[in-house]
Amino acid sequence: MPGKLKVEYFVKPDAAALAARAARQFVEVAEAAVAARGRARIAISGGSTPKAAFALLADPAQPWLKRMPWDRLELFWVDERCVPPDHADSNYRMTREAMLDHVPLRPEQVHRIEGELEPEAAAARYESELRNRFRLEGAETPRFDLIALGMGPDGHTASLFPHTAALDEISRLVVANHVQNKDAWRVTLTWPVINQAASVFFLIGGADKAQALSEVMTGPRDVERLPSQLIKPASGILTLLLDKAAAALLPPADAQGYGFLEREG
Ligand code: 6PG
Repeated sequence: MPGKLKVEYFVKPDAAALAARAARQFVEVAEAAVAARGRARIAISGGSTPKAAFALLADPAQPWLKRMPWDRLELFWVDERCVPPDHADSNYRMTREAMLDHVPLRPEQVHRIEGELEPEAAAARYESELRNRFRLEGAETPRFDLIALGMGPDGHTASLFPHTAALDEISRLVVANHVQNKDAWRVTLTWPVINQAASVFFLIGGADKAQALSEVMTGPRDVERLPSQLIKPASGILTLLLDKAAAALLPPADAQGYGFLEREG
């Protein structure tokens, strides 16, 4: 898709402040989606970074538990490790422990990827779940209201890892992807689905992400090596929620911690 990508970034001093900013983003985007469309269909990533934000959403001492329109939410995952849902590596398990066990979501509002199945079977079942929930016809792509992404130090996002087959998949909604250097299977949304979302943000913290983030956002296009460069929302805007350490190599943010850049392609 031609045209520059507008990237706005919000830099917070530390991990705790970043988690609070992420919790706010989840709630504000969900509230706006419910106001506009009557519901909020959100796909979340796993890993470690979002855990603190999920815990804040579930914390009764925080404003978010009361503000989030839980009854209008449909929760999906961006990706999952091919492990059972109670496995230590399961994104679903991390989310259940940090949030799902403590918030008023009904089971039918939670659409996990069945990591316990054979990878291809898990991908196929999740794709049909998306088709059903979004009532998709033919080649339609689901339009999530929000997709929350993380990024690895290698520039991967979702389970779109460098030099893996999933980077070339543009017709399916969900694929199983073998990650050589982890000798592991993952199931992931494909990048065209992510780019179709009404709102997309990256939640990235830690000094170990600074180099990759800088290359992804300001370096030459090299999507095989830096798959996060595939993320170019149809809205033309990409939001980054960062801590100072992760943002260290980006153009400096202003005194309020707000930064903006435009990326070719
Ligand atoms: C996963 C995630 C993955 C994650 C990044 C960052 O299944 O691991 O979906 O894309 O967002 O690897 O992970 P951290 O937040 O743990 O650094």
